[in-house]
Amino acid sequence: MFEELPALSADPILGLIMAYNADTNDQKVDLGAGVYKNEQGHTPIMEAVLQAQSRWAAAETTKVYAPPAGFTGFNEGVLQLLLGEGHQALREERAISVQTAGGCGALRVAAGMLQRCRENIKIWVSTPTWANHIPLLGSAGLELVEYPYYNAQQHKIDFDAMITSLATVEAGDLVLLHGCCHNPSGADLSPEQWQAVAKVLLERGATPFIDIAYQGLGDGLDEDAYGLRYLAEHCPEVIIATSCSKNFGLYRERVGAAVVVANDAETAEVCRGQLLNVAREIYSMPPSHGAALVDLILHDEALTQQWQRELGQVRERISGLRETFVQRLADAGAGDRFNYIKDEKGMFSFLGITVDQVNRLKQESSIYMVGSSRINIAGLNDNNMDYVIESLLKVI
Ligand code: LMR
Repeated sequence: MFEELPALSADPILGLIMAYNADTNDQKVDLGAGVYKNEQGHTPIMEAVLQAQSRWAAAETTKVYAPPAGFTGFNEGVLQLLLGEGHQALREERAISVQTAGGCGALRVAAGMLQRCRENIKIWVSTPTWANHIPLLGSAGLELVEYPYYNAQQHKIDFDAMITSLATVEAGDLVLLHGCCHNPSGADLSPEQWQAVAKVLLERGATPFIDIAYQGLGDGLDEDAYGLRYLAEHCPEVIIATSCSKNFGLYRERVGAAVVVANDAETAEVCRGQLLNVAREIYSMPPSHGAALVDLILHDEALTQQWQRELGQVRERISGLRETFVQRLADAGAGDRFNYIKDEKGMFSFLGITVDQVNRLKQESSIYMVGSSRINIAGLNDNNMDYVIESLLKVI
């Protein structure tokens, strides 16, 4: 029966990792998947994580199943990180968190719960959005509808078009918003724009679903949570999917959380039960190692400070790279064409080149990026930047 299965092409993002690893060109450059790299092109383990890991190795006494909702300390820590201390939803005990297998697990489990709320649930996603949102949410049974977001010609958010489109969502629809560091564009909403979005969602009776996989990589941990905190303050119900892959560098440990802010504490409890039931249908309970480390880091003053320092360094390196890249492009003769890159946030920006040019960069120069021309800024460094610029100018 397996011969009935069609062969699939590689995943548009993960396939790049394999293609890059198989490339034997010494000058190859990986600007593909959203993974932080240091100046040496390496993805290091954070010092705070290493310290937590050695403590955990000494303290862990069993490998019995973790609780289905994950560690209580992890979930409390995540809620604080997302909503901020003393948020109204926390005081009123109507926010719950369930530890999941990465941010993908959070999205999938949350979508599974939403799909049970009523029939024919629609979720509005930005154009463009993270490529994996479509299969992840679609396979859970949600119907995807698009709202305009990034104007690729002008390199900025087309906010008027976005609001006009959101003004047509129907009561009970969901609207997926990127909490910060929009993937793939790097173009984030300003506080005023978040407020305008909240207003229109409230008017329409729609529910925000916030995917925040890069908290702390844009402007700071609190700054990056502005939109979600505002929505959680003003909207009766909010869903959040978060990930510790990027801000704790725990990619392979698969640690994230599905968070629900409900109208009241009782409904929040019902949601927790539903999320656990969906997870049980898929993978039963989350992996524990990464979440144990996050729990330790967030409950130890010195480790928290160490982690925040390291995250600050990551953030500053990325914004520094943005500045340098734009400057060197201009110096190399590109004019102000790429200036928008320095105003964008987080790991990603578009180069704004064609698929054909992206393919030429791969074939002729072994420079890897997503077909949309999304690059991972953190993949640039002093050794490869001039080579990337020279190769880019050759194809445009
Ligand atoms: C990305 O967008 O590159 C990352 O989130 C990695 C992934 O799973 O796609």
